[in-house]
Amino acid sequence: MQKNIPIIAGNWKMNGSPKQGAALADEIDKYIKTNKIKAEIIVFPPFTLLDEVAKKLAKSSIKLGAQNCAEHDSGAYTGEIAAPMLKDAGCEYVIIGHSERRQHFKESNEIIRNKVSRAHENNLKVILCVGEILDERELGKEYEVVGEQILNSLPSSTNSENTLIAYEPVWAIGTGKNAGQEEIGEMHSFINELVDDNFKNIKESIKILYGGSVKSSNAIHIIAARHVAGFLVGGASLDAEEFCKIIEIAVKKW
Ligand code: PGA
Repeated sequence: MQKNIPIIAGNWKMNGSPKQGAALADEIDKYIKTNKIKAEIIVFPPFTLLDEVAKKLAKSSIKLGAQNCAEHDSGAYTGEIAAPMLKDAGCEYVIIGHSERRQHFKESNEIIRNKVSRAHENNLKVILCVGEILDERELGKEYEVVGEQILNSLPSSTNSENTLIAYEPVWAIGTGKNAGQEEIGEMHSFINELVDDNFKNIKESIKILYGGSVKSSNAIHIIAARHVAGFLVGGASLDAEEFCKIIEIAVKKW
């Protein structure tokens, strides 16, 4: 990971064909090259698009990542994709513990920690997602929940080179709602201190991205919050023009 540049990650979720993915990657790449953008840009297509997008990005500074990986490296785990396979497919990153995995696929902190370990062992950089649901925030439990997620889902191999954290309040994902600048800054500062205090391999502060309805219309406020190293963008990353606008804002305001 390069220092002192913003990180803008696009989580494409379960969308698109290989052809569409390659076209989207190509548009972003053209924008990056034309405007000599200095940022770490990462795209996270679904598994079946990885090969085509990897080919398209072979001569690009844009990094490739996957949206999930298995708890095991190989074996009788029907339907799973292992970290070494992602490496073979050209991935440098993997998202682990997204709230949609936690909610819909019942992934526990323990499962997530195993996945992060497999990713680290296979030299994949991890974006670990954490965030509270609305009920938890309304009960004032957001720090407790996020703290527990971090302490229980990061293995001791975690360091600032192999791991990024994405704070994504679940109530802000895909809803158009955003946490305020102050709320984001406070949570990111809390995460920063918690990680510094609890992981002995952390020499430099871990980078923390914000995610949840990030758009070109709110990016400027979010990037200005404390300890925000960039964005994890969902819906808006499927539109090349909108995603490139978000990149432009992050770079200008950095
Ligand atoms: P969203 O998704 O930008 O569509 O809210 C963010 C995410 O789930 O990573």
